[in-house]
Amino acid sequence: MSEISVELKNVSKQFGDFLAVNDVSLQIGEGQFFSLLGPSGCGKTTTLRMIAGFELPTAGEIYLRGKPVGHLPPFKRNVNTIFQDYALFPHMTVAQNVAFGLEMEKMSKSEIQKRVDEVLEMVHLPQMAQRRPAQLSGGQQQRVALARAIVKRPDVLLLDEPLSALDLKLRQAMRFELKELQRRLGITFIFVTHDQEEALFMSDVIAVMDSGKVAQIGSPPEIYHRPVNRYVADFIGEINFLDCKVTHLDGEMATVLVGDKIEIQAMRAPETVVGEKSSVIIRPEKITIHANEVKATDQRNVVSAVIVEKAWIGTDTHFTARLQDGSKIRIRHQNMAVDDSIARLDVNDTVYLSWQKKAGQMLSS
Ligand SMILES: Nc1ncnc2c1ncn2[C@@H]1O[C@H](COP(=O)(O)OP(=O)(O)OP(=O)(O)O)[C@@H](O)[C@H]1O
Ligand SMILES: [Mg+2]
Repeated sequence: MSEISVELKNVSKQFGDFLAVNDVSLQIGEGQFFSLLGPSGCGKTTTLRMIAGFELPTAGEIYLRGKPVGHLPPFKRNVNTIFQDYALFPHMTVAQNVAFGLEMEKMSKSEIQKRVDEVLEMVHLPQMAQRRPAQLSGGQQQRVALARAIVKRPDVLLLDEPLSALDLKLRQAMRFELKELQRRLGITFIFVTHDQEEALFMSDVIAVMDSGKVAQIGSPPEIYHRPVNRYVADFIGEINFLDCKVTHLDGEMATVLVGDKIEIQAMRAPETVVGEKSSVIIRPEKITIHANEVKATDQRNVVSAVIVEKAWIGTDTHFTARLQDGSKIRIRHQNMAVDDSIARLDVNDTVYLSWQKKAGQMLSS
């Protein structure tokens, strides 16, 4: 990370006797697309509001470009926020809405005009400049809110679930646009969402929050492939948990027993010890189904199983299979061929499941 744009050091926020944000420390790099991801009530908006200056931390300190902002009011921080409900001025045109913040700064008329034209171009709305918000679609209003926030050229843009009011198609289109815009502007974006797919798609770095705390900070692949605990594993995408007992450790790998007989290997966690009861996590798309017996190798685990559920959904076939010890495992098979023999397998068929040993991971206890 080159320069640090925003830093939180041991930041907490207490409302009465409720701790909404609990000792959060994180660093956000200059120009990064950083997401705060977590379920409703985990403290995302509160964290964002503290960075913006609308709330003061009850403990800890926030730094913008290395300077503690402690008790600086919002307008003295070079930070701008886009809220979920946009809050456009209904009686003003699009151009007036966007120009508003600049007029407060007593900028010359021609400079304002130039900047407004420039950002309306950026958000693909130049032809809408004279309309009022009520004459725009939801997505267009969202773009006006975006234009209004970036026209002041903030160092940091805070976005609180800005896409949640839009329908699915528009939300997906706006994801691309937002990311593109962020790349072009090079501004630090701090993006709040409870939508894991949105966070995975757009972010350079994600902080997964759990009840006011940061559970994990990492790049999307780190968060997805190497979740640090059960909470993160379960929150991001679909995942299998296989209860197991550790029998042997060798370098980065652990050998474990699932039930009494099924022996597999997986990446160990730093804390893993022999004899420990834990779980191996494995993503459904990492598992290959075979109709005929295949052998385990140094690289891959193989277990036999019986299919107990099947759902064919066009792009994929989702199976649930029961292992010999009774545990269930989900598998996502991609329907590559039109006439795919695996996709024709059905409930009660016996199958063999294989996956790369390194695709499984022991959870830390
Ligand atoms: N002003 C306040 N007074 C008391 N409690 C508050 C206040 N603001 C937020 N909270 C509580 O703090 C917790 C975190 O709220 P916050 O709005 O940060 O959650 P969030 O992660 O943004 O959730 P959502 O996804 O629903 O927007 C919640 O339990 C909320 O009820
Ligand atoms: Mg919120």
